[in-house]
This record gives sequence, C-alpha cells and structure tokens, in this order.
Amino acid sequence: MTRSPASPSPALSEAPPRKTAEDLRSARWLAHDDLRSFGHRSRLRQMGYAPDDWTGRPLIAILNTWSDFNPCHAHFKTRVEDVKRGVLQAGGFPLELPVHSVSETFLKPTSMLYRNMLAMETEEVIRAHPVDGAVLMGGCDKSTPALLMGATSAGVPAIYVPAGPMLRGNWNGKTLGSGSDAWKFWDERRAGNIGEAEWNEIEGGIARSHGHCMTMGTASTMTAIAEALGMTLPGASSIPAPDMGHVRMSAASGRRIVEMVWEDLTPARIQTRAAFENAITVAMAMGCSTNAIIHLIAQARRAGVAITLEDFDRASRTVPVIANVRPSGERYLMEDFFFAGGLPALMGRLGGLLDLDALTVSGRTLGENIAGAKVHDDDVIRTVENPIYSEGALAVLRGNLAPEGCVIKPSACAPHLRVHTGPALVFDDYPSMKAAVEDEALDVTPDHVLVLRNAGPLGGPGMPEWGMLPIPKKLVKQGVRDMLRISDSRMSGTSYGACILHVSPESYVGGPLALLRTGDLVSVDVPARRIDMLVSEDEIAARRAALHAPEPHYERGYGWMFSRHIGQAHEGCDFDFLETSFGAPVGEPSI
Ligand code: FES
Ligand code: MG
Repeated sequence: MTRSPASPSPALSEAPPRKTAEDLRSARWLAHDDLRSFGHRSRLRQMGYAPDDWTGRPLIAILNTWSDFNPCHAHFKTRVEDVKRGVLQAGGFPLELPVHSVSETFLKPTSMLYRNMLAMETEEVIRAHPVDGAVLMGGCDKSTPALLMGATSAGVPAIYVPAGPMLRGNWNGKTLGSGSDAWKFWDERRAGNIGEAEWNEIEGGIARSHGHCMTMGTASTMTAIAEALGMTLPGASSIPAPDMGHVRMSAASGRRIVEMVWEDLTPARIQTRAAFENAITVAMAMGCSTNAIIHLIAQARRAGVAITLEDFDRASRTVPVIANVRPSGERYLMEDFFFAGGLPALMGRLGGLLDLDALTVSGRTLGENIAGAKVHDDDVIRTVENPIYSEGALAVLRGNLAPEGCVIKPSACAPHLRVHTGPALVFDDYPSMKAAVEDEALDVTPDHVLVLRNAGPLGGPGMPEWGMLPIPKKLVKQGVRDMLRISDSRMSGTSYGACILHVSPESYVGGPLALLRTGDLVSVDVPARRIDMLVSEDEIAARRAALHAPEPHYERGYGWMFSRHIGQAHEGCDFDFLETSFGAPVGEPSI
C-alpha cells in the first residue's frame, strides 16, 4: 500500500519538532559571545566567509572520497561542486572534508583492511567538526558500508550520494563487464585462445568512463542497498556516473540534506529493522555480491539491529533474482538496468516483499518514493513470476568445516557442483596456490575441491578477494571452467563460480579449515545447506591437538590494531570497539 503525501505515514507522524537555528549543533561552535566562538568565527572569516554565510544556517559536511588513485570516484573532484550548489540553494553552508578513498583497485593487501579505517574516520570527522548534517560521497566497494557505518555511529542527519556505475565496456563491438570479463578473458588467454594484442585491446575497453564497476559487483550491490535502506534519494544508485542525471541527483541531495537537518531526520530514524530487511530483500533480487552479507551485518550492528546469516538465507529462499545483470544474469549491465527503470522499478516489482512504510531520506516512505515507477524492459528487470532464478542469490552453509557458517552464490555456479563430494587439494597461502595452478603437472581432476586457507579477516590479513581460486591451467586447457572451491576469504562481487567463501571461524584462529588435509573428502550439499569434511571425530581431535598458532602478521601500526580488534566474517568484520554495544555512547566534544 502506498500513501499520498497528504496522509503522512506513521513514521512521519512520529517526527520530532522542527529544529530552530538555536538548536543547531554548529551553534555550539559559532553562536556564543566567548573566546572559543570568536576563534571559530575569525577563522571562517580568514577563508573569506562572512557571518551571513553561517548564521542560522546548517553546516553541511561533504565527505568526499575522491583520490587520484580511485578511478571509480574520479568525477567526485568536480561533482562535489554540484552538491555544494544544492546545499547553498537550500540555505545551508557546505564544507568539503576529504576522507580516505578506499580504492578497490589499488589498495593492497586488500581494501577490506581499510573499510573500518574509513568508518572510524567518518564517525570522528563528523563528531569533531561543527557539523549539522553530512553528505556522503562514495561508491567503490568498501566506501559505501564504511561511510554509512561511520555516519550511523555519528548520528547526525546524513544522505548518501552514490558514485554511479561506469558505462558499458566495449571490445570490438562486444560488451565488456568489469571484473567478470577480465576473469573470463584471462582464462581464455591462459588457454591460448587470446593473444597479447587482443588482451591489450580489452585492457583499453573494459573501463571506458568514470564510475564504479558496472556489473552487479559489490559496488552496485552496496549502493542499491544504500537506496533500499532509505539513505539515498529515490533512483540515485542506478544513474551512470557520466549521465547528467547524476549531476542533478548530486545537487538535489545537497538541497535535501539541509531540510533533513531542520527535520532532524537522522540515520537512526531511517535504519530500522524493517529498512535492513528491505535491503536484504533488494540485495537478493539483484543477485547481489556475497560481500553484501558482511557489510550489511556490520552496518546493522552499528544501527543497533541484529542481522544474522540466517536472515540472508531465509530471504534467499523466498526472494527471486529478477535483475538480469551480470554475473548472475547473462547479458546486461548497470547501464541497461538504469534504462530499464533502475532500482525504483525493481522495488516496484517486489512490492509485497518490502515494507513500504519505511522512512527514507526523501522525507517520504519507500512506498511513496516508488509509486508509479515503471519497468521499461521486462528482460532486464524480470517479473517475480519470470525471474532469472526463483531462489538462491546466496546460500548459507554450515557443518563441521564451518560451524559459524559460510556462503555460496548458487546462482553464479555450475549446477552439477551444488551437490558434490571430492578430494581436497589444500593450499596454506596464496603464493603457493598461484604457483601450483599454473603447473601443468599438478595432480588435480575436475572432481577435486580446491581449498585456500589463512585468507580470512586475520589470516589474509583483511580477508582478501582470493576466493575465486583460478581453475588449474591443465584443466582450463581441457575446457573445465568451474570447480568447487572453498576458502575463508571473500571474492569480488563480479566473480562467479562454485566458490564457498567466508568460512567461519577462519583457519588462522583455529577454525576447522585449519585441520583439513589434501586428500580428505569434502562434501557440499547446497540444497541441504551442508559443508563437511568426511574425517572421523577422533582424527579431527588429534589434528587439533597438534595444531600450532601461526605467527602474527603485525607487531606495530594499523595492522596490529586491526588484528587485535577485528571480528569474524559472520559478525560483519567490524572492530569490536566500534560496535554500538561495546561501551557507553560517545558524547559531544567539549568546546
Ligand atoms: Fe571501484 Fe570496482 S574497482 S567499484
Ligand atoms: Mg569489487
């Protein structure tokens, strides 16, 4: 059921009173006749501002994750001016704050090591400055959950401006998708089917505009989740980065945050249990990246909402995959999804599966936001009756190999591997695995189960995206394109294949994966949600008794702190001390 703006939803009728200029948080810094306020005002004047610029106006922080090392956010360098224009038009005072870019492409060992660093930075940057509201500019994989986690903990009104997907890639008239086609054509190159010249052309054609990956990878998944949560303006997450609609959305977000400050429309009012359930439903319908599980659990915990692996598994059994976008879909990319109507159209198709009374940053309910949204291409956004998969965007498996769970994306793996028993081929680290799979003398068959361990949150460190283990070269040449693979790492949302990920607890902390040996039989049954090593309990106990703790990765620096405080995959990999329940709430700073 949708409501007209004339009949406010229950969420809206519970709204707190409108703020006045005296209520503004920034007034504590600026409005007093004392030495501190004098200092703040004089320093604003130092930048050429006058009292008219700030008096009685919300101060809006624009957290910009632009960097020369982040191609996905390259347009943010100028797009931030559109956000500022919107803030000014609505009577706010925009101030740009650069924050860590968390570039998926360039950060090593993995961008995931730094998600929590950006989350911390976001929270503290907002808290420490005279900020009444925040515009969060992100999009490349980890930047979305990081900014939202930090802003949720900071608690001031916040709106998300997603970077938008890049345009379709192109090679000789063929559409190329980020990530997915890189892996695919790399296998063809390894098999000798593609030469250096063609590979070079693909390199120049696969990423042809600013914006984040345009497959249904982690970026497209997480920005859709931000919109489904209610943290973006309607339709914002589907607009390609170079489209002028993206400019207009950025300015509109700037205008809207100023009103949100007066309305005191905080993340806490938007990110309810119902909002997170909507996000899970939308993620499933999109054929989401497996990374969504970790990030959403972490985000929900920041909002004081307990989301578990079981919530995802339950949703995956009932929500059909209706976004026909690669890698779960066969043909289309985010640009096609945008032209087909984008996320509002997809959410319109899900109708009854969503809580349409959930409040959003627009000040209206989700139902009001998507009323009238139309699908323009039924092949790109399918109906619930004609999905690309009727269930199974993600499945959560448990068993003696993963007591706290692990995940697989059945929609992106070869059907014959969904129930499989085969001998394990175990690798203790990434370099030895990488060397072995290139060795054409490797003793391996298509029935083998490839296992990589010591690749989890502590072991990786940072849980790198190593989970799509390469098919051994010898088998690639025989035409094998999928095998069962197991690891405690993650995989890129643009990856595909029968990859079991996020095994928890990880091997590095003594999880059962540490006890597996090459040759042991491993049994996986996705419909039954089971993953087991077929090894006797006595033998498992003996192996556990002989297990030694590995050497620590870090003895100083950020990595040392990370290692002390990082949670396991099923807990969302947040730092324990950042979780809402860790201690008393952080108060306002003394001024
Ligand atoms: Fe930035 Fe894929 S590399 S979203
Ligand atoms: Mg990615």
